[in-house]
Amino acid sequence: MLDEFETLFIQHFNDNARSLAYYLEKMQGYTASKKALAMPQDEVISEVKKSNLRGRGGAGFPTGMKWGFIPKNSTKPKYLVCNADESEPGTFKDRDIMRYTPHLLIDGMVIGAHAIGANTGYIYIRGEYTREAKLLQVAIDEAYSKGYLGKNIQGSKFDFDLTVHRGAGAYICGEETGLLNSLEGKRGEPRVKPPFPAQSGAFGGPTIVNNVETLAGIPYIINRGGEWFSKLGKIEKSGGTRLFCVSGHVKKPGVYELPAGSVTLRQLVYGTCGGILGDKKLKAVIPGGSSAPVLTADEIDVIVDIEPLMKIGTMLGSAGIIVVSEDYCIVKLIRRITRFYEHESCGQCTPCREGCRWMEDILDRIERGKGREQDLALLLEVADNMSGKTLCALGDAAAGPVISFVKKFRADFEAHIRGAKCPNV
Ligand SMILES: Cc1cc2nc3c(=O)[nH]c(=O)nc-3n(C[C@H](O)[C@H](O)[C@H](O)COP(=O)(O)O)c2cc1C
Repeated sequence: MLDEFETLFIQHFNDNARSLAYYLEKMQGYTASKKALAMPQDEVISEVKKSNLRGRGGAGFPTGMKWGFIPKNSTKPKYLVCNADESEPGTFKDRDIMRYTPHLLIDGMVIGAHAIGANTGYIYIRGEYTREAKLLQVAIDEAYSKGYLGKNIQGSKFDFDLTVHRGAGAYICGEETGLLNSLEGKRGEPRVKPPFPAQSGAFGGPTIVNNVETLAGIPYIINRGGEWFSKLGKIEKSGGTRLFCVSGHVKKPGVYELPAGSVTLRQLVYGTCGGILGDKKLKAVIPGGSSAPVLTADEIDVIVDIEPLMKIGTMLGSAGIIVVSEDYCIVKLIRRITRFYEHESCGQCTPCREGCRWMEDILDRIERGKGREQDLALLLEVADNMSGKTLCALGDAAAGPVISFVKKFRADFEAHIRGAKCPNV
C-alpha cells in the first residue's frame, strides 16, 4: 500500500531535506507561495476548499472553510498561528515534519497568511521539542535571508513575519485558545467561546490556528491543485494523505503515510505495522491519541478516517494509534491515561479539575485491588458529569476514554475488584 503512491511527506524525511537547497531543488520549494501570492485571496481559499483538506490537529474541521471565517472588513491585525504543541499521548508526526521539512511548513504558512490577510505568524511549539525549535529557527533565518519571509516576499508586496514561540510543557496549551493565552504571556487557560479565534484570537485580532500537518499540506494544494489533493483521499470529504503515528505493541511502530481513507485499522496493524509483538493476540486499539475512545479487537475492520471512526463512537483525532496486546492490563492503561489528564487539567472548570482527580483515584484503587463493587457505577457517573460540561474538550478527552474502557472491558475491571488484585500479576 505504502509503495503504490508518492508520499507527500515521508519520502523527504531524511536529514538532507531540511536545507533550503534541498527544498528548492527537490520539492519545488517556495514556488507554491510565489504562485499563491499572485492569486486573489478568495481564489487561494477556494482551492483549499476544493482540496477537502481537513484539519490534522484533532477535530478534522475543513481548513478552507475555517480560513473563510476571517472577517474581511476587520481593521485589526490578523494572525496565523501554527499549532505545533503536539502533546497528545501517542502523537508524534508533527515532530517529523518540523525536523525534516521545515521549509514546507514555512511555505504553507506564507500561503495561509496571504489567504487570510495576516502579516504576522507564530509557530507555537511544544517546549520539549528543543531540537525542532532550533531547526525551525535555522530554516526561518534561511527563508528571511532569501526573501521567502519578511518584507515584499518574492517581489509580491506582501509582508509576513514568522516567530517560533516555545511552550513550557503544558498539554492544555495545545487547545487553541489556551495556546493563544500562553502566546500572549497569560496563563494557558482556554477561553470562553464564542468569540472564536477567527473573530477574536491572538491579541484580540482575527486569528487562524492550524496544525503543522495541515499547513504543511498547503504548498501541494497550490502547486498541484485542490482537486488533485482531494483525489488522493479514497473517501468522500477527506482529501490528501494522513500521517499515522503507530505505537504500542506492534512489530513495526512509527510514522506511516497513507492516502486518507485507504486502509482499515486491521490492515494498518497487521499489514503496515507487521502485527502484534510476539505474535500475541490483540486486546485493544486507541485510534486517535489517548483521548479517543478505545476499540476492541473485534472492531478493527473499520476504515481509519474521520467519519468511519466517528460512526462507531470513537475518533481519528490526531491519528495517534496505540495498539495494546492481550497481556497488558487494561485497568493499568486507563489509570495511566487518566493520570495524564489529571496532571494536565488547567483546573479552570470544576467538572474537569475535580472529575479527573476522582477518576484517577477510583481507577488507582481498582488497579491496586482495593476497588469496591459500586466503583464502576461511580466512575461512569463522574465521567458523565464531565462530558460536555467544560469550557474546552479536555474534560471530554479525559471522560470519553474512561467510559469506553469500562463499557468495553467491564470484565477486566470486575476481575480486579472481585479478585482484589490484577489478574495479570
Ligand atoms: C486539550 C486539547 C489539546 C489539543 N492539543 C493540540 C495539539 O497539540 N496540536 C494541535 O494541532 N491541535 C491540538 N488541539 C486542537 C486545537 O484546539 C485546534 O483545534 C487545532 O490546532 C486546529 O488545527 P486544524 O484545524 O489544523 O486541525 C487540542 C485540543 C484540545 C481540546
